[in-house]
Amino acid sequence: MKTVRTVDELRQELRLRRAQGTGAVGLVPTMGYLHEGHASLLRQARKACGTVVMSIFVNPLQFGPNEDYETYPRDEARDLALAAREGADLVFIPSVQEMYPKENRSQIIVSRLTSKLCGASRPGHFDGVTTVVSKLFNLVQPDFAFFGMKDAQQVAVLKQMVFDLNMNVEIVPCPIIREQDGLALSSRNVYLSGEERRQALVLSRSLREARSAFEEGRLETAGELRSLLTEVISSSPLADIDYAEVLTFPELEPVEEDAPLSGVEGEIIMALAVRFGRTRLIDNIVFTPK
Ligand code: PAJ
Repeated sequence: MKTVRTVDELRQELRLRRAQGTGAVGLVPTMGYLHEGHASLLRQARKACGTVVMSIFVNPLQFGPNEDYETYPRDEARDLALAAREGADLVFIPSVQEMYPKENRSQIIVSRLTSKLCGASRPGHFDGVTTVVSKLFNLVQPDFAFFGMKDAQQVAVLKQMVFDLNMNVEIVPCPIIREQDGLALSSRNVYLSGEERRQALVLSRSLREARSAFEEGRLETAGELRSLLTEVISSSPLADIDYAEVLTFPELEPVEEDAPLSGVEGEIIMALAVRFGRTRLIDNIVFTPK
């Protein structure tokens, strides 16, 4: 595994590998502090691609002024060990100066999809994501790029970007990896106190309960599912709900509150963002309401 820190080195390494005919190039973009969720993306990339590139970059453009950019957890040595263990060929770890050498005056903005869910509570967040991801796509020119459904809205927004701008890359969505007890893995889980960690289980539990209630015919409508989600989450005194939504996926359009969900074409997302103290956690389930 090779570690590169500059755009020039990255391009040089990729040129070499392409000249050797090493097959499809897969990209796994991350912000580091890697865990099993990131590892699962690397494994999926390893299966599909001859060259696997992982990027590790805490992108200041996607953090709001009062968010955790400064304190976002970082551990380069551990990240490199995990990337090597999971068979990455190339790890790109640029500095902020390398990615944004001058004031950045260009942005990629995807409309509509970015005004919902996390886009509503984190203004500008997805503009930062789409801008950095399109820079990474330009640098690496991957055939495939792997993203977790943990950030389902991110997947929807990036697919829209690739479609709208004819980018020559396939976005590959990968399943959410969870702890044994259901908590979705996240680099931000380290912020949780013991009690917050225990109570954070309400996210996955509420999603499971809502889906079972729908599948067993006990609940039928988006309104009923949303009420159940809110009720279960509110049973945790430390939980402060940012949103608990039921929308179509990947369009993220509202569904009729009182009509049976089974009338909806395509997939549905139940999506949550909940604060525990200073930590904001997200989780979701995407399913076909039949
Ligand atoms: P980060 O939060 O580091 O996540 C990197 C990738 O890992 C994303 O595609 C995310 O969905 C995936 N991931 C995180 N937790 C996961 C889990 N429990 N199961 C499966 N996949 C999981 O997302 C970002 O970074 C940034 O926005 C980025 C795309 C790198 C742009 O800066």
